[in-house]
Amino acid sequence: MSGQSTERGAFASNLGFILAAAGSAVGLGNIWKFPYITGVYGGGAFVLVYLGCILLVGLPLMYAELVIGNRSGLSAVGAFKKLTAHAPRSRVLSALAGGLAVLSGFLILSFYSVVAGWAIHFLFVSMGLIAGKGASEATFTAVAHSGAWSSLWHTVFMIGTAGVVAAGVHRGIEAACKVLMPLLFGIVLLLLAYVILETDGVGASARFLFAPDFSKLSGEAVLEALGHSFFTLSLGMGAMVTYGSYLSEDRAIVRDGVAVAVLDTVLALAAGLVIFAVVFAQGKEPAAGPGLVFVTLPDLFATMPFGAAVASAFFFMLVFAAWSSAISLLEVVAAWLVDSLGVPRVKATLGASVAIWAIGLLCAYGVGAPGMGESFFDLFDNLTTKYTLPVGGLLVALIAGWVLLPNDREAGFRAFKLPFFATFWLWTIRIVTPLLVSLVILHGLGVIG
Ligand code: PHE
Repeated sequence: MSGQSTERGAFASNLGFILAAAGSAVGLGNIWKFPYITGVYGGGAFVLVYLGCILLVGLPLMYAELVIGNRSGLSAVGAFKKLTAHAPRSRVLSALAGGLAVLSGFLILSFYSVVAGWAIHFLFVSMGLIAGKGASEATFTAVAHSGAWSSLWHTVFMIGTAGVVAAGVHRGIEAACKVLMPLLFGIVLLLLAYVILETDGVGASARFLFAPDFSKLSGEAVLEALGHSFFTLSLGMGAMVTYGSYLSEDRAIVRDGVAVAVLDTVLALAAGLVIFAVVFAQGKEPAAGPGLVFVTLPDLFATMPFGAAVASAFFFMLVFAAWSSAISLLEVVAAWLVDSLGVPRVKATLGASVAIWAIGLLCAYGVGAPGMGESFFDLFDNLTTKYTLPVGGLLVALIAGWVLLPNDREAGFRAFKLPFFATFWLWTIRIVTPLLVSLVILHGLGVIG
């Protein structure tokens, strides 16, 4: 199916594919965002709801995207079009889903790359290669509020991302993720071992994450958990469609999808365990917000044994995780140029990267969006997490559940003689997922609190 033309490329092995897809899923969302929202929304109960959302929204959509890519052998825009060709009335749905996917990839990468750039800055500070400004609050302000620093790191990060994507699916993406992902898991294990051996915060951290206190759960928290289940699994923007298309026809992709979701969830929980162990060991508040990883944590590392080495390992992990996710964001845009417009891969990558890099500069310099009352950074962040990703996900659910032909729809379940699961998936993606995703969209529009 996939890899018909040499320009498209393909994954050489199933493991390579799983690692690349997990590389896409595991990113800033797991290490930076999941711990801070868990801190803000009070821990255990939020985590439980989040796990429920992964099960009822994340997993069904993950399979839907993978099977759409795998069956069509095309990236987002072409894939939706091809598999819905028998149903002309759904043409608008599939055109919208494809268009939104490319737009989301474009917008997310432009600010994602800036945040990843801050992580590079902290990596160099913790390795002693750049002088920090004392307390990490000051270091953070010095980089995040400096257009020059932010855009320098943003440029470096975009070059690294473009290099891998230009090298192609097998030689670039698969090869990079096969190294990055095991390394990432290795670093998390080391950090876990460190907090267990060197701090006495692990017990408190585990209680905070796993002992639910439902009195702390708000409606807002539930919606945040739902929205985050999208972002963290790279859903709603065609990344999994595109990766699925590079896999030779797979009769068991449902298993691959579960593997990716499990890896992503385990990594988020492990990162949370490490971060809160450090926070509690030093008697700090878990609800520090977005600055948790960039401000609270480095300050705490500084006072701990082997602090500089641990901080370096942590920021290495953050940069690598962001890198393998950014690769998939750029790949969606580049693959659209390759598949739909016939642009050669290197040119497509270069063109997409330069455009995203230029837009990213607006985020790096904190430029305000005319007439919107906020910076481009916040605008793109809000626009994608609140609108384009959930709407993209809703469209995928509707297309997969109601438009796809049964032969395509069930292809990835075929290796298993368990019709119950296919039926369960079908009714979840038809009814439950669209309902829950609609809640996120209505919340984003301010219709429900
Ligand atoms: N899943 C990535 C993360 O958790 C972010 C991402 C979103 C990547 C959408 C690709 C597509 O950081």
